Amino acid sequence: MVHPKSSNVYWHPGQINRNDRESLKGHRGLTLWFTGIPASGKSTLAVALEKELYERNCHTYILDGDNIRHGLNKNLGFSPEDRKENIRRIGEVAALLRDCGIINLVAFISPYRSDRQAARALSHDDGTFLEVFVDCPVEVCEERDPKGMYKKAREGLIKEFTAVSAPYEPPEDPEIHLHTGRYAVNECVQLTIDYLLRHDLISPKLPIVADTVFKEQRSPPGAMA
Ligand code: ADX
Repeated sequence: MVHPKSSNVYWHPGQINRNDRESLKGHRGLTLWFTGIPASGKSTLAVALEKELYERNCHTYILDGDNIRHGLNKNLGFSPEDRKENIRRIGEVAALLRDCGIINLVAFISPYRSDRQAARALSHDDGTFLEVFVDCPVEVCEERDPKGMYKKAREGLIKEFTAVSAPYEPPEDPEIHLHTGRYAVNECVQLTIDYLLRHDLISPKLPIVADTVFKEQRSPPGAMA
């Protein structure tokens, strides 16, 4: 719990609410919160899923730990306190984006259960905060080591590195559990899309026949197809 430093501040209501914004977009504002150890595939999945959602006319935005640490969170390091503040801020940003009616894909290690729980609590369990456990054995992540960070961490050149010298607390009951050591990116994306469809959080793609009819309707009489 963060106590406000400011007093004498008042909520100013607007005239347009979340429902209004969501109906403009045709889908709910959602958070897909990808959590997992370094190199487990969080960013890769978020990027691939965003493309798939975009092609389904969804309004999306990715919040990626590495990217956000270049700007909004550039004053934070990797101590437990800084990670907590990192997740607190991004939990708030995710809540704002839900209020905008945007599907936000959050890709942060977010190693502590309590911090993820605090981010989830902002959704008041309305079903629009989905924790996605990007689950990959540390040996596989270390083998991948795309940025060479595991190697540096083992050599002691990077301190407090998650899964080597800093803890990672796996989710106990994630909405979506992806085994990225066993399944390909496109399979994990499909599993996530299937979940969203099953829970009516996105609409099925229009069948191709509807597209054909639409084109025919737009063609002037006698025009070549
Ligand atoms: S979090 O733990 O606070 O959620 P976040 O997702 O923002 O982490 O940032 C993780 C990224 O920071 C990693 O992808 C990696 O590139 C980089 N990084 C640098 N130092 C560390 C470290 N000590 N532990 C984990 N990641 C680190």
